[in-house]
Amino acid sequence: MSLANKIQKDFLPKHLAIIMDGNGRWAKLKGRLRVFGHESGTKSVKQTVETCAELGIQYLTLYAFSTENWNRPKLEVDALMRLLVSSLKKELKLLLKNNIKLQAIGNLDTLPKKAKKELFEVMEKTKDNTRMTLTLALSYGSREEIKNAVKEICHKVKNNIILLESIDESIINQHLYTQNLPDVDLLIRTSGEHRISNFLLWQIAYAELYFTNVLWPDFSKEHLYEALINYQNRERRFGKTSEQIN
Ligand code: FPP
Repeated sequence: MSLANKIQKDFLPKHLAIIMDGNGRWAKLKGRLRVFGHESGTKSVKQTVETCAELGIQYLTLYAFSTENWNRPKLEVDALMRLLVSSLKKELKLLLKNNIKLQAIGNLDTLPKKAKKELFEVMEKTKDNTRMTLTLALSYGSREEIKNAVKEICHKVKNNIILLESIDESIINQHLYTQNLPDVDLLIRTSGEHRISNFLLWQIAYAELYFTNVLWPDFSKEHLYEALINYQNRERRFGKTSEQIN
């Protein structure tokens, strides 16, 4: 039986998040510049987006650029921003054809003007699409997201908009960038690193974690199928006992 046939369509993660790592190492292994790794990584992005939509995954969130990534050499940061703009221009057709809505989370005001403009245009053009929501985490940091949420909630408490006693998990959720997304069910990280790197810390509380040694530009349809099959063989207990689940 092929890997694709082994996937149970009624037991897919509703929200899949991916830390796309290993572009730089992939390029180095080929004796090329890091930017070449990022360019090649865009092909894996495209294939992953198409495959998730085909399978029926409703929410896909990709860690494309972290707040810490601004500290990389300017040449690399500029190249990543150019890649973002060219990918958005190139893939708008794919998003429209596949009925995919694009949204972004992060400190978007820090993006270069051109990237922000292109991003908002594509988000506007795809806002009514319903098959899958693709969220790009751009200039994203989870601690910053939580800090902003705390500030906003405190401000509302101070101005009697929210009662201190009424603060619960749902109020915190409503103040995160991800307010319209469900919790993450499956988090994949490529490249053999076993870290979360400041990604969706609140939202992955009960996510299944899957780490693969495959470098992001090599991450294929089959690697995604393997991760999904692995997820489908896990028992998600959410703090309960195995007997309670069964
Ligand atoms: C991590 O690899 C990858 C990134 C920091 C950027 C991810 C970007 C892409 C996949 C391409 C552009 C994406 C979009 C959505 C247009 P790394 O550079 O940290 O690799 P290394 O750990 O091997 O150095």
